[in-house]
Amino acid sequence: MADSNTEAKQQADPNRESATDDILETLLFKILVCALLAYVSCRVLNVVVKRLGSVISPLFVNCFSSSYNSRMGGVKRRLFANLADLQERNGGELTILEVGAGGGANFQYYPKCSKIIAVDTNERYQKYLQRKAMDTGHIVLDRFVVAKGEDMGDILNDSVDAVVSTLVMSGMQHPEDYVREVKRILKPGGMFFYMEHVSASKNSWTHLMQRMLNPLFVFCDGCHLTRQTWTYIDMGGFRRLEYSRFFAPLKGYMQVIRPHLVGSAMK
Ligand SMILES: C[S@@+](CC[C@H](N)C(=O)[O-])C[C@H]1O[C@@H](n2cnc3c(N)ncnc32)[C@H](O)[C@@H]1O
Repeated sequence: MADSNTEAKQQADPNRESATDDILETLLFKILVCALLAYVSCRVLNVVVKRLGSVISPLFVNCFSSSYNSRMGGVKRRLFANLADLQERNGGELTILEVGAGGGANFQYYPKCSKIIAVDTNERYQKYLQRKAMDTGHIVLDRFVVAKGEDMGDILNDSVDAVVSTLVMSGMQHPEDYVREVKRILKPGGMFFYMEHVSASKNSWTHLMQRMLNPLFVFCDGCHLTRQTWTYIDMGGFRRLEYSRFFAPLKGYMQVIRPHLVGSAMK
């Protein structure tokens, strides 16, 4: 009797095995389809976010910049006063390359008759920059170049008197390449002026907030709130490197970017 039971089980086993195989195959197929759908959705979402971002970002940056300038105008005036000295030493000539120029929030602080080459990854800023240069009245927008600061191949070596960037390095993918490009493009004796929001001191409340909000800021041009930007500038091999870290007098939603770095460096 026992023998005939075992025999029956043995006969049933091949069917059960093939049923298990079928279930596994279906499961595997479903997992593959889900993975493929998730991948395609992510790619589509990425493109949509980028497209929308490139349209929305100028509107946001223009609003943000005027409110930022109203609080930071004093710091910018002091930083850019050095441009006038540079212009005087150059016999009245001054070519400034502004990287991540956005809507031209810094134009009003540049000395009279400065020639500006503006670089930005977003081509939509061109019309804002042209309008801003006209409104400012005392500077000339010479060129607008669509490029990443990390790769400005269109700009010649040793060709500009000053490079300026404000609130840009936190969003760059490769800040070390940008610093190398700045050094390549500056004339010998040329100056790099920068102001950036940076990481707060570790173990501070602001640092904790920055870490928590970091994922959300990806939508703001891929901005990194906890970037220690000074480390990249330190590595640039500049002469007369000067900078200070301070708490910017920013309020409301801008509090998380209060830790700032401002300074200059000479090639
Ligand atoms: C926060 S806005 C700052 C605009 C302006 N500099 C200011 O201070 O108001 C950052 C700007 O940098 C540009 N940007 C972002 N990543 C860049 C990159 N890798 N190279 C050049 N520009 C970049 C953005 O398109 C945007 O115009």
